[in-house]
Amino acid sequence: MLREGALKGNVIVVTGGGTGLGRSMAETFLRLGAQVCITSRKLEVLQATAAEMEKTTGGTVLPVACDVRKWQDVDQLLAAVLARFGRVDALVNNAAGNFISPTERLSTKAFETIIGIVLMGTVNCTLAFGKHWIAKGEPGKRVLNITTTYAWTGSAYVVPSACAKAGVLALTRSLAVEWAKYGIRTNAIAPGPFPTKGAWQRLLPGELAEQFDMAKQVPLARVGEHRELADLASFLVSDYSGYINGEVITIDGGEWLKGAGQFNMLEQLDPAMWDAIERMVRNVKS
Ligand code: HXC
Ligand code: NAP
Repeated sequence: MLREGALKGNVIVVTGGGTGLGRSMAETFLRLGAQVCITSRKLEVLQATAAEMEKTTGGTVLPVACDVRKWQDVDQLLAAVLARFGRVDALVNNAAGNFISPTERLSTKAFETIIGIVLMGTVNCTLAFGKHWIAKGEPGKRVLNITTTYAWTGSAYVVPSACAKAGVLALTRSLAVEWAKYGIRTNAIAPGPFPTKGAWQRLLPGELAEQFDMAKQVPLARVGEHRELADLASFLVSDYSGYINGEVITIDGGEWLKGAGQFNMLEQLDPAMWDAIERMVRNVKS
């Protein structure tokens, strides 16, 4: 979507960048000329991904192990990025944890774990990088948070994730205002269904994937392609989106609106049924 070299000169950190959507975003940033640091808990996964991406893009990737729940890890992540590249321009808070469960089955530890990764992980990284940017007085920096469409609506059976993502949404909008004076833009993406191993294994395990075909919930009748989300993320971390701040862009083929509109179930009616219905409704008037 963006022209070649659009992210040249940028150093971008992607949490959860070794797999799934994080990996796809990191690869697209590399193709557009950025230098990238990918981070998560599993160093072997990161190293393998980094080697593959360097080969396919010719770019530079720094893999760093970091549990975003731990402040000390995050502090070391920032130090490692600065030691290697001397600067950092954008942070993509993508790391997440999630699983489906009736809420009454959950322990407080289960809540703490998901809120720890999703909300506190995002807070830790944003705070570490933000403090650094503010102390250095370097404007033009960007934070991009990956949230979900149920951050607004809530969702049954993924309640810890819904609570945490709602917090990320509030963080995005709050800092967009508070940190604008330091030249830091804060935005978010709310994805609908994008097949990834990490999400699908935990949210649609076993036969659930066939039983509940996510594509059927989407007005566009398909799931998302990684390229589509990666292009949007590239735009939001680039200077081309320089006046967008505090925005959350939904990329879900219209999925959440379909669930929201009270009469959207009428989608199932065929033209003959509409003819019959029209006659009935008009008869009411006469
Ligand atoms: C109930 C569960 C559980 C389950 C774990 N727990 N899985 N409770 N049902 N299925 C409980 C444990 O019993 C424990 O509580 C607590 O949660 C912590 O579990 P651990 O396994 O010790 O935690 P940890 O090793 O840190 O693993 C974190 C994880 C795991 C989130 C549980 O799944 C993970 O590493 N996920 C990372 C990748 C991921 O989730 N990707 C998907 C993102 S998708 P007790 O009390 O027993 O000690 C996403 C998409 C949203 O966000 C929208 C899609 C359309
Ligand atoms: P994924 O591949 O499982 O990505 C999650 C990543 O987070 C993994 O790389 C994981 O790596 C990392 N991670 C987990 N816990 C961590 C921790 N404590 N510290 C550091 N990293 C940690 O799933 P995905 O589908 O690509 O999800 C990416 C993002 O998109 C998430 O924010 C998710 O909520 C969001 N999203 C996805 C969908 C979808 O349909 N796929 C829909 C809506 C929103 P390690 O295990 O190595 O730590």
